[in-house]
Amino acid sequence: MPPSQALQTKAPVILVTGGSGFIGSALVRHILDETDCSVINLDALTYAASPRTLNAYRNHPRYVFEHKNICDKDSIKALLSRHKPDGIIHLAAESHVDRSIDNPLSFVWTNVVGTCNLLDEAHSYWKKLDGGKRDNFRFLHVSTDEVYGSLGETGVFTEESAYAPNSPYAASKASSDHFIRAWHHTHGLPVLISNCSNNFGPYQFPEKLIPLMIIKALRGEPLPVYGKGLNVRDWLYVEDHADALWTIYSKGKIGTSYNVGGNNEFTNIEIVRRLCSLLDEYAPAANDNPYSDLITYVADRPGHDLRYAIDSTRLCRDLEWQPKQDFEEGLRKTVRWYLDNRSWWQEILDNNYAGARLGLA
Ligand code: NAD
Ligand code: TYD
Repeated sequence: MPPSQALQTKAPVILVTGGSGFIGSALVRHILDETDCSVINLDALTYAASPRTLNAYRNHPRYVFEHKNICDKDSIKALLSRHKPDGIIHLAAESHVDRSIDNPLSFVWTNVVGTCNLLDEAHSYWKKLDGGKRDNFRFLHVSTDEVYGSLGETGVFTEESAYAPNSPYAASKASSDHFIRAWHHTHGLPVLISNCSNNFGPYQFPEKLIPLMIIKALRGEPLPVYGKGLNVRDWLYVEDHADALWTIYSKGKIGTSYNVGGNNEFTNIEIVRRLCSLLDEYAPAANDNPYSDLITYVADRPGHDLRYAIDSTRLCRDLEWQPKQDFEEGLRKTVRWYLDNRSWWQEILDNNYAGARLGLA
């Protein structure tokens, strides 16, 4: 494929990695809709990507797609030199805990080695920039609250909480966070880190809890709740995460980590029951049985973290960010979106992931 043209623009150019994934695509839409910046979307289009999520932006004058892998150093170097971005927001990753149990090395490869490649090339590129472009450059690394491990019944993660990752996914993200920190301390690369809680919303790949339950319910299949369903997650609507990332990227203090959360703590079984009630309302089952009849308790995830809860005070206080989406309404919007966009997920079920249980290897 011939190299894509560099954008002809005076506005800042942001390199977003993983922009064809769930959160990355929400961020790309946010930047193009809410700012005058241009976006270079670098994505390897793994099984988790969905290029269709950005169909409406394909010919946008401020958008370029680059089909590249962050593990390929030469392509990253060439891409930086061609597009000369003003900053980087790094989301490309293997992102599913269950898959990290089955296939941990792909997580080490992308999340650790790929991130180090990107850091190394970003550093070489940044140190040759001159004047204002060098002073204003920033690299935001998008991470997860799972790096902090598991909480008991009480307590919250703050940015000072010790790292204690429990799954191979969390360990690979924790490792990448450490490398980000090291490039800042050793080389002065202007970095920021965000650690966010569980996201939900449109375009989430069907292997994750909320889309999986909606889709299985609509197909009349058992809804597999791990263990007793009492593990707790804090949920944030994906567009609020995109807004938080842009806030951190634009206003955050270099060298700082920011926790991002929604203050929406629920057990998994509560989430699944809520989804069932919404589906009863919007798409009653043909046999008129409540969808909750499909709930099935299955073998627990190995090493399943009990509870995550996030204290986002630093982000809310210092950068004046607040989540905008009410949780109940966000869940409603999400259920309606999956009902209205069956072809989006049916294509994934047909080609990439049919809904099998993962993570028991
Ligand atoms: P996702 O799995 O939906 O998307 C990941 C994207 O990265 C895909 O488009 C994929 O093609 C791309 N990618 C994977 N490996 C790549 C590689 N080697 N080179 C280039 N591109 C590659 O993930 P997501 O849920 O959108 O998560 C995005 C980021 O946010 C991840 O870094 C994840 O750790 C973090 N995060 C996710 C959540 C969540 O709830 N989903 C919460 C907090 C943080
Ligand atoms: P998931 O969406 O995989 O996100 P994470 O592991 O990053 O929190 O899972 C969210 C919660 O839902 C987690 O506690 C595991 C649980 N879960 C189930 O009970 N059943 C399922 O089929 C899946 C995919 C997850």
